[in-house]
Amino acid sequence: MLSSLGLCAALACGLALAGPQKTCADYDISITVTSENLILGGLPEFEDNYDVADFLSNLGSRTAAVDFQPVSGIENQTTSYTISATVCSPVDPKAKHRQTVLMATHGLNFDRKYWDPAIQPDKYSFVDFAIERGYSIFFYDRLGVGKSSKVSGYVSQLPNQVAIATKLAQLIKAGKNSPAIGKPKSLVLVGHSYGSLISAATVTAQPDICEGLVLTGFSYNGTNIPVFLQAAEPRIASTQSKKWSSLDSGYLTPVDIFANVNTFFKKPDYDLDVVKYADNHKAPFAVAEFLSAEALDVVPTQFQGKAMVIAGQYDYIFCTGQ
Ligand SMILES: *[C@@H]1O[C@H](CO)[C@@H](O)[C@H](O)[C@H]1NC(C)=O
Ligand SMILES: *[C@@H]1O[C@H](CO)[C@@H](O)[C@H](O)[C@H]1NC(C)=O
Repeated sequence: MLSSLGLCAALACGLALAGPQKTCADYDISITVTSENLILGGLPEFEDNYDVADFLSNLGSRTAAVDFQPVSGIENQTTSYTISATVCSPVDPKAKHRQTVLMATHGLNFDRKYWDPAIQPDKYSFVDFAIERGYSIFFYDRLGVGKSSKVSGYVSQLPNQVAIATKLAQLIKAGKNSPAIGKPKSLVLVGHSYGSLISAATVTAQPDICEGLVLTGFSYNGTNIPVFLQAAEPRIASTQSKKWSSLDSGYLTPVDIFANVNTFFKKPDYDLDVVKYADNHKAPFAVAEFLSAEALDVVPTQFQGKAMVIAGQYDYIFCTGQ
């Protein structure tokens, strides 16, 4: 392996070495978690998109804090889920950071392919970027998304997803989720957007769960969920495409490509082909995910490892557009 790589490097092979040399494996992981979940007894399930429009009006109202109370209680719930994940590591057994595993959690409107899109991977695949620098990476479909368990959009929320992330991190540390790597030397939680909220909440609750924390598309100043939702102009996902017909009305999706751009891209800093790719591959998000976004402490003051927080200058969701 090393010699063929060396040969390639010497000859500057182009096509033969399209992308870094990695080995990847897909896994379905069965886990049982308990979490204190919000119960949305004050939010009647949406019957149609007029109900969603009305929800946005109520949520964004200046009196929402007093007259809009979707959360009726908190309950400990224990549930078993299947989480679908991919683990990639450098082919080279001597790769510099092979024993460091990045555990990447994607945000809303995406699935795990956010980290490894098929479009221009040399520019946009974070997986390839990490592999090229010698790291191993574990990335998964969040609850309710992609090939992971489908649950109601009134149930999938921050607390149960943090419980899942915690369990996944513990399994990785024990060497269970990464047979090709074994017990890692260190674990780094990496999040994008809502995935950053999940990663930050996980580390806040268990500061020794990992050695590093990277929060992208995220900030601690400027989050405005009603504004985000209004820009996304969400519609019930099952009314937008047959491919989402198995999801209940708690799953929403931006109404069109322009609503998607309004929330996730800023002109002129995007490639239109990437926007179209992202829109064609978007994944619905759960209304309970929004309503639970502030349910947990996400400021990991006890964390002793290294941390990085980074957002685009014009991040709409977490920096209110600037
Ligand atoms: C959930 O269980 C934990 C551990 O038993 C307990 O401390 C907590 O108060 C419970 N929460 C609720 C809302 O009942
Ligand atoms: C949050 O952002 C506002 C507006 O840009 C700024 O004035 C304020 O200092 C920021 N607060 C913190 C804690 O960074």
